[in-house]
Amino acid sequence: MAAIVSLLLLCVCSYFISIYNAQETISLVPALYIFGDSTVDGGNKLPSGTPYGIDLNTTAPIRWTNGETIADFVAIFLGLPLVPPYIDMSQAGISRMGVNYAFAGCGIMPQTGQNGWSLDGQIEKFNSTLKNNLTKMLSDPDLLQHLKHSIFLFSFGINDYVRLYLPKNSGTLSKLPPDAFAQFLQNELSVGLTTLYGWGARKFLVNNIWPLGCTPWYANASDPLAICCNETINQLVRPYNKKLPVMLKELQSKLSGAVFSHSNDFEFVEDLKENPTNYGITNTTGECHSTSTDFLCSNRDQYLYFDYLHTTQAANHVFSLNCFNGTLCSPLNIIQLVGALV
Ligand SMILES: *[C@@H]1O[C@H](CO)[C@@H](O)[C@H](O)[C@H]1NC(C)=O
Ligand SMILES: *[C@@H]1O[C@H](CO)[C@@H](O)[C@H](O)[C@H]1NC(C)=O
Ligand SMILES: *[C@@H]1O[C@H](CO)[C@@H](O)[C@H](O)[C@H]1NC(C)=O
Ligand SMILES: *[C@@H]1O[C@H](CO)[C@@H](O)[C@H](O)[C@H]1NC(C)=O
Ligand SMILES: *[C@@H]1O[C@H](CO)[C@@H](O)[C@H](O)[C@H]1NC(C)=O
Ligand SMILES: *[C@@H]1O[C@H](CO)[C@@H](O)[C@H](O)[C@H]1NC(C)=O
Ligand SMILES: *[C@@H]1O[C@H](CO)[C@@H](O)[C@H](O)[C@H]1NC(C)=O
Repeated sequence: MAAIVSLLLLCVCSYFISIYNAQETISLVPALYIFGDSTVDGGNKLPSGTPYGIDLNTTAPIRWTNGETIADFVAIFLGLPLVPPYIDMSQAGISRMGVNYAFAGCGIMPQTGQNGWSLDGQIEKFNSTLKNNLTKMLSDPDLLQHLKHSIFLFSFGINDYVRLYLPKNSGTLSKLPPDAFAQFLQNELSVGLTTLYGWGARKFLVNNIWPLGCTPWYANASDPLAICCNETINQLVRPYNKKLPVMLKELQSKLSGAVFSHSNDFEFVEDLKENPTNYGITNTTGECHSTSTDFLCSNRDQYLYFDYLHTTQAANHVFSLNCFNGTLCSPLNIIQLVGALV
């Protein structure tokens, strides 16, 4: 198996080296297109300054964490630059290596707000990149190959729960049973993925929702060490996580030639909380940075959470390592996703 994977990688590499040698870039895939919320936002909506981005080693816009996001580490491992945010058209308009459409606060449903940047809006923006920019840079057959081999990464869902479902009386959606709400979101997501497939996308990496009840924001407020996760909230997101791999599998059998990798963020956080030393993390409960008290921890590489909601660069790094090679992303990990469809 290892031999097959490395053989596939060899083919893919030499293929892209030959296409992209004009730019002297060696990457495993031509491009990474990123869709999502603050977990992967790369500069479309900026957080309010330091300590956000304090450990970011590049001049790229700051993210909603101390350094790189999971999507950034995926880009780095694929041999790509941190892809430009859509809002920076001077870069995004000429990028052949991908664009980041993610926007903090947004969700799958347009009702999560963030005018025009929810899943639908981000897909429309990709359409604009495709029609106005990529078709001008690549001839038809090259464009099809570009789309077929590029990775489309999705990190959505948290804000749909945080904004539409968890607040009491926040509208008709919050009255749906957990199963129905999860189904509702996934129908919408499935439509979006199918639209991108129709335009030529084939390789998808889709996250599930981490245990939201364990974030400092939702963990037991009356527990001074915030050690107890709010299991009521974790139970509410479970149906989404249970349905997602089933939905992706169905989609894969329906959309010929598409491959889906499911990124299990929920299991990662649960496992990390149980076995932190396996991941080199020691503090899995506290906020490294508290906005209200202006606190910033010094051992940022030891924390799971950077602020009340977002994970640290360190946690994002170990997650991406385990998605690359290990079992957190399945049935294909990223190495296999790169080699698929050759
Ligand atoms: C950022 O730079 C520091 C110091 O050079 C290094 O220790 C760290 O690994 C770098 N982080 C990343 C994500 O490249
Ligand atoms: C990319 O598309 C935008 C419109 O969406 C346009 O303003 C820009 O000039 C395009 N860039 C290139 C290089 O074609
Ligand atoms: C995609 O863009 C084209 C032209 O720019 C437009 O005609 C079409 O309606 C767009 N489709 C979607 C789904 O946004
Ligand atoms: C857990 O979350 C639920 C739903 O938001 C809330 O009603 C409950 O009070 C929370 N429990 C604790 C201990 O914070
Ligand atoms: C919340 O924390 C308090 C104080 O530690 C504890 O008494 C209570 O049982 C906890 N509640 C839940 C739902 O974990
Ligand atoms: C985790 O960090 C918080 C501050 O952010 C601190 O209050 C808490 O004691 C730390 N917990 C552990 C186990 O180090
Ligand atoms: C994947 O695993 C192999 C063998 O264990 C290791 O050499 C390689 O560095 C890993 N790659 C990544 C990106 O972690």
